Amino acid sequence: MTPPTDFNDRMLSLGLARVSEAAALASARLIGRGDEKAADQAAVNAMRDQLNKLDIKGVVVIGEGERDEAPMLYIGEEVGTGNGPAVDIALDPLEGTTLTAKDMPNALTVIAMGPRGSMLHAPDVYMEKLAIGPGFRAGVVTLDMTPAERVSALAAAKGCSTQDITVCVLERPRHEEMIAELRSTGCAIRLITDGDVAGVIHCAEPEVTGIDMYMGSGGAPEGVLAAAALKCMGGQIFGRLVFRNDDERDRAKKAGITNLNHVYTRDDMVTGDVIFAATGVTDGSILPGIKREVKHLTAETILMRSKTGSVRRMTYRNPKA
Ligand code: FBP
Repeated sequence: MTPPTDFNDRMLSLGLARVSEAAALASARLIGRGDEKAADQAAVNAMRDQLNKLDIKGVVVIGEGERDEAPMLYIGEEVGTGNGPAVDIALDPLEGTTLTAKDMPNALTVIAMGPRGSMLHAPDVYMEKLAIGPGFRAGVVTLDMTPAERVSALAAAKGCSTQDITVCVLERPRHEEMIAELRSTGCAIRLITDGDVAGVIHCAEPEVTGIDMYMGSGGAPEGVLAAAALKCMGGQIFGRLVFRNDDERDRAKKAGITNLNHVYTRDDMVTGDVIFAATGVTDGSILPGIKREVKHLTAETILMRSKTGSVRRMTYRNPKA
């Protein structure tokens, strides 16, 4: 069934900004304190409290984990007041828990909302991802190409040399071969230690971030969040689930996925209109982090709607409690 396109997204979007803002403000006192769990918990509590104030019949489809492993914001949890449109919610109250604990760049709070049935229920497994920004013909790069072929194809489409392309990659042992192949093309590589939602979003504004393409495997839930962002900002993302064992294959089957090798496009992962909000926790190339002053906290949020392609940036200065 095609989800309805109008879910009162215009008014709800402002409420959604408050939700991501609340999570970021709550985690602020834990930036650089070396405690990932406490930072995540603070963000989860605040995001859930704020979300429950929204007039929605919400269901978390991308959340903190399965019900037995996450007491709050678990997959399937009903959120909101129960009055209002039926919506799906994808969230990551703190994307980059380690980045926050170590005060490293690009930690964000992230949330997306769409009509019920509009988001892929991605299991908590890895997803091989490939993303580029707006303005290219569909399929100019594909997951079936080798990493080197992707760089050449994108350079040809941009009318530049492979040396002028910058690719963002999560620095992991599993990516060593891919990185070596990318190096052989002469492209530049921006290695990140965590945070591939931000990694993908970087592609949507290459003139600001300097990043043209994102590739490599990371969390599948993060893939859906990144698809929601690119649906608003423009750009392409492809994802294929990666299974390391039967338990992971079972998780996918339980989530209703029958073709385990399917290549998901952006619009397969998010089939209807979507609203997306992210607030900077630590400084990054997309958003500044929370500014901590003696008496105030200041947060910057990016709020986007796919229906209009509008991108709003909001700064919130809040007296410290
Ligand atoms: P957390 O915020 O949950 O720590 O996740 C950070 C992250 O870097 C994601 O952005 C990414 O998708 C995933 O972890 C990568 O997983 P792994 O660390 O297992 O490579």
